[in-house]
Amino acid sequence: MPEAISGFSKLSKSEKIEWLLNNYFSQKETARQILTRYWNSDEILQKLHDEFIENTITNFYLPFGVAPNFLINNHLYTIPMTIEESSVVAAASKAAKFWYDRGGFKTKVISTEKIGQVHFNFKGNYQKLESFFRAIKPKLISDTAAITENMVKRGGGIKDIVLKDKTKELTNYYQLHATFETLDAMGANFINSCLEQFATTLKNEAATYANFTQEEGDIEIIMSILSNYVPNCLVRAEVSCPIDDLKSKDISNPELFAQKFKQAITIAEIEPFRAVTHNKGIMNGIDAVVLATGNDFRAVEAGVHAYASRTGNYRSLTHCTVDDGIFKFWIEIPLALGTVGGLTSLHPLVKLALELLEKPTAKDLMQIVAVAGLAQNFAAVKSLTTTGIQQGHMKMHLMNILNQFEATEKEKAQLVEHFKTNVVTHSAVVAAIKSLRQ
Ligand code: MEV
Repeated sequence: MPEAISGFSKLSKSEKIEWLLNNYFSQKETARQILTRYWNSDEILQKLHDEFIENTITNFYLPFGVAPNFLINNHLYTIPMTIEESSVVAAASKAAKFWYDRGGFKTKVISTEKIGQVHFNFKGNYQKLESFFRAIKPKLISDTAAITENMVKRGGGIKDIVLKDKTKELTNYYQLHATFETLDAMGANFINSCLEQFATTLKNEAATYANFTQEEGDIEIIMSILSNYVPNCLVRAEVSCPIDDLKSKDISNPELFAQKFKQAITIAEIEPFRAVTHNKGIMNGIDAVVLATGNDFRAVEAGVHAYASRTGNYRSLTHCTVDDGIFKFWIEIPLALGTVGGLTSLHPLVKLALELLEKPTAKDLMQIVAVAGLAQNFAAVKSLTTTGIQQGHMKMHLMNILNQFEATEKEKAQLVEHFKTNVVTHSAVVAAIKSLRQ
C-alpha cells in the first residue's frame, strides 16, 4: 500500500501515471501500454477529454451504436445508444421494427417543471416566518434578475417559491421549495445559482426584519440544491394495436401472448423483486440514449427510481391493458434532460448524436428517451414470456466469447454459422473453438 500523496492533481499526466505504475503495478510496462494505447492521437480532442474531469490518465471507451426504425408520432428516428451490454441495441432495434410495422410509438410531454430547495433552520414563531416570507417573496425573485434574465427572455425562469414547514419531521427545519422552467437546458446550474441567491436574500432580509427577535432574525442556511426528483417533469410513450396484429415470427398465438405479457407487467406492478429487474431493463434503453446525448444518467436514474416508489412500494414504470381486442402498453416517467449546455456543445460525439436526432428540443428528447425505455422493456418482456431471455443474450454473448479467445474473422464466421443451429453456452463455444483449432 502506498503512502498518501498530496498535490496529486498538480502532477502532469505522465507523472500521475508514473506514480500509479510505481505503486500499484508489478507489470509496469503492460499497464503503461494499456493506458497510453487509449490516448487519442488528435491532441486537441485528447485535451478536451483530459479537461472534462480531474486526474484524467486515459480514455474509457464504450460502444456508440444506433437503433434505426423508431417511428415516433409518425416521424422516423435512428436513435444513438452508448452502452456496453451486448443485447441492448439489438433488442431496441428489433422492438422498433416490430412497432414500426404496427403504427409506431405515440408520445406526449405531460409537464416540464424542475424543482430546487433552500433548506434552513429558523428558531421562532411560524406565523411570523410566514408573514416575513410573503413580504420578501418579490425580492427573492427580483434579486435573481441577473441570473434569470436570458431564461425569462426565452420563456422560462422561476415559476414559484413556497415556504414549507418541516418542523414535524425535524426541529426548526423549513424549506424554500422553488419550481422552475428551464426550457432546453437540464438547468442544474441555473437552478442552483437561483437557489444560492434565494438563500443570501433570505438570510440578509431576516437579519434586518423589524418583526423578528434577534434569534428569529438569525436564520441558518443549511444548503441550497436542486432536486433530482422531478415528478412534474413527466413524459408518456405508448404503443397499441389490435391483439391479432401482434402475430409475428415469434408470436404464433397473439391472444395468449397478450395475456402472458400483461401478466408479466402486472407482476412487476405488485412484486418489488421483479419490478427492480423489470425497471433495470427499461433503464438499459434510457441510460444508453441519455449517455449518448451527454445527459446526466445518475440524475435520471435517481429520479426515475424515486418515481417508481412514489406510492410507497417500488413498482413497474410500464403498464399494459388488453381490453376490447386492443393490446396497449405504455410508460410514464420523469425525465429532466437538456439539449443545450453541459456536454451537449462540448463532446463531439454528443453533438453528433444530437444532430442524428435532428437537433431535438429537450421535450423532443424526453419523448425519444421514453420510447427507448418502452421499446427495451417490450423486447425484454416479449423474450421472457416467449423464448426466454438467454437465447438472444447468448447469441450476442457469442461474439464476446469469441473475442476473448482472439478468434480470427474466418473462425468467427464459421462459429456464428455453427451456432445458428446449436444452443450457445459458454462451454459449448469454448468446445467449438477448440475443435475448430485442432
Ligand atoms: C438485462 O439487462 C435486463 C433484463 O433482465 C430485463 C428484464 O428482466 O425485464 C432482461
